[in-house]
Amino acid sequence: MQTPLYELRGATRFFQLGGTTIKAVDGVDLTLDAEEFVAIEGPSGSGKTTLLQLLGALDRPSSGEVLFEGRDLSTLGDGELAELRLRSFGFIFQQFNLLSTLTAVQNVEAGLAPLRVSAGKLRERSLAMLSEVGLRDRAFHLPSQLSGGEQQRVAIARALTAEPRVVLADEPTGNLDSRSGTDIIALLTELASKHGSTIIVSTHDAELAARAPRRLIMHDGRLIGDGKNGKEAAPAKKRG
Ligand SMILES: Nc1ncnc2c1ncn2[C@@H]1O[C@H](COP(=O)(O)OP(=O)(O)OP(=O)(O)O)[C@@H](O)[C@H]1O
Ligand SMILES: [Mg+2]
Repeated sequence: MQTPLYELRGATRFFQLGGTTIKAVDGVDLTLDAEEFVAIEGPSGSGKTTLLQLLGALDRPSSGEVLFEGRDLSTLGDGELAELRLRSFGFIFQQFNLLSTLTAVQNVEAGLAPLRVSAGKLRERSLAMLSEVGLRDRAFHLPSQLSGGEQQRVAIARALTAEPRVVLADEPTGNLDSRSGTDIIALLTELASKHGSTIIVSTHDAELAARAPRRLIMHDGRLIGDGKNGKEAAPAKKRG
C-alpha cells in the first residue's frame, strides 16, 4: 500500500492560558492523499488555523502524531522542519502577506530565493508563474497598485513557484468579495492539478467549501465531518 501524504493520529494542540486549557485541535484522525483538494470548514475558533499550522510544520502537536510522507514531524529537528517548509509547503494567507515595497515579480521571486536559483532563472520562472495566474502584465506593479484579488493571485504565484508538494491556504478568500473568492478557488483548483500539488484550504464559507472535492468540518477542535464531492458530509470516524 502506498504511504499516504499525511496521516494524523490523535493529533492534538492544546494551549494553556491562565488556568484554562484551550483545546484548539482535539484528537484529529485524518488521512490525506497526494493531489487531493481539501477544504477545512468550521466556525471561528474551531481550530482551522491551528490544524493548518500542524500540517505545515509551523507548529508541533501537544500529543498524537502528524506524519508527512510517512515521517513523524515531531521527530524532525528544527533544520529539517525549516527545509520542509521551504521545499515541500507553500503558504497562502487571508491578508496576502506580500512585501509592500517589492513589485509583483519580486514578491514571487522571494518564494524561490531560498532555493538558490540563479538570478536569470529566478526572473524567468517568476514571470512564467505570474503568467499562469494571469498577471504577466502586472509584474512590475507594487501590491498597493493591485486589487485584493490580484494581490492574492501574486501570493498564489509565490506559494506555487517552488513547486511545493502541498499548498496550505488559510482563509485565502476571507478578504475578497464572493466573485473574486470563487475565482481564487477556481485558480487554485486549476493550478493544483497542473502542478500536481495537494491543496488544503480553510474557509468560513460553506458554499466555497462545497466546491472542494473533499470537505472536512471542524467544530471545537474536533473533526466532525469528512465528505466527498458535493455529498452531505458524513460524520468523521470515531476513534478507538
Ligand atoms: N497561540 C494561542 N494561544 C492560545 N490560544 C490559542 C492560540 N492559537 C489559537 N488559540 C485558540 O485555539 C482555538 C482555535 O483557534 P484557531 O485560530 O485555530 O481557529 P480558527 O478556526 O482558525 O478560527 P478563525 O476562523 O477565526 O480563523 C481558539 O479558541 C483560539 O482562541
Ligand atoms: Mg483561522
